[in-house]
Amino acid sequence: MLEKFFKDSLKDIYWAEKHLTKALPKLAKAATSEELKNAFNEHLEVTQTHVTKLEQVFEMVGEKPVAKKCDAMEGLSKEADTVIEETEEGTATRDVGLIIAAQKVEHYEIATYGGLAALATALGMDDVAEVLEETLAEEKEADQTLTSIAESDINYQAANEEDEEA
Ligand SMILES: [Fe+2]
Ligand SMILES: [Fe+2]
Repeated sequence: MLEKFFKDSLKDIYWAEKHLTKALPKLAKAATSEELKNAFNEHLEVTQTHVTKLEQVFEMVGEKPVAKKCDAMEGLSKEADTVIEETEEGTATRDVGLIIAAQKVEHYEIATYGGLAALATALGMDDVAEVLEETLAEEKEADQTLTSIAESDINYQAANEEDEEA
């Protein structure tokens, strides 16, 4: 039962990662700051390796890589679309919204990979756990990058934009 749950969860995050390879270019295009655009583009490249690593994990557990629609990721991705719809192009306010939306995605991934790596260890699959932990570390790094971009400049700029409008 536990192994089935593990494999189903792999299918779920596999769908999510593949979905992100399509969503991240949209975020990069919509972002105002160059720094944020670069962060999204860099994480797109990393995300492509996450897809490959999951295919490796499927092979390690003797399964074909199958994607099963992840409702959570679809919802988080829609939230990012809403940010783009509801903010003005070229504003720091849009970037603030994009960063928060993207961080929700990273946190979802962190929770998933953290849980799956622990589960793999419990199931005696240390080699699988290792691959999942590599991805986990990269999701945490992406999250921290977004935090530092927000805190270094963009949040402050966005707060000033609000003042101008008021
Ligand atoms: Fe990822
Ligand atoms: Fe990620």
